[in-house]
Amino acid sequence: QARQRLVIGNWKMNGSLADNVELLEALRAGADVSADVAVCVPFPYLAQAQALLETSKVSWGAQDVSVHASGAYTGEVSTAMLSDFNCRWVLVGHSERRSYHGESSELVAQKAQAALQAGLVPVVCIGETLQEQEAGETADVIAAQLKPVLALGPQAVAKMVIAYEPVWAIGTGRTATPEQAQEVHALIRAALRELGAEQVQVLYGGSVKAANAASLFAMPDIDGALVGGASLVAEEFLRIAAA
Ligand code: G3H
Repeated sequence: QARQRLVIGNWKMNGSLADNVELLEALRAGADVSADVAVCVPFPYLAQAQALLETSKVSWGAQDVSVHASGAYTGEVSTAMLSDFNCRWVLVGHSERRSYHGESSELVAQKAQAALQAGLVPVVCIGETLQEQEAGETADVIAAQLKPVLALGPQAVAKMVIAYEPVWAIGTGRTATPEQAQEVHALIRAALRELGAEQVQVLYGGSVKAANAASLFAMPDIDGALVGGASLVAEEFLRIAAA
């Protein structure tokens, strides 16, 4: 059974109410592709994304979420709040959250579980640093990051998306070669298969552009992309989705 192609844009901390209009309108008009297309926008722009994308083929989501349901957690945003804006997706464990906010793989798994309980699709991000890659630790790092997530069990994991993003390829212009990415995606696929959740979509992220998307997507275990910088340019992002 073929897995559906999925291309998600991660705006990170970019955009403005004024600038987003053009980008969202362009996506709305242009996303007539066979892939599923989505954008994960900063929290303040969820209402705007909802308003402008509601009747389009493009879905939207957030870049992080709290594990707590409500209460005294200053600065945090709950899964129910994301559902208030009809979010479909939420990124959890992006490397920027792991490195700048000290998020552990256990916390990331808890966030994924909270998202699932609210009917959101968690996009669980994993990936090794340059240092880890150079030390030959990629497979161990991936396994360790996946461990608490896979411990949630096959039924939970089957409803998730996994995004493999080698940290050394994020925002650096240095994309993993399709073969390099495929090698790690195959490891992830094997772990999913062993759990009984082989159909989970596994996205690649890290300097994906229109020029390299097709060769990445040609790999058997790469089901789409999580796109940072190039998702801020409508034409480029749509070309990736069409690749
Ligand atoms: O979530 C997206 C990734 O961090 C990739 O970012 O496409 O700017 O390298 P990038």
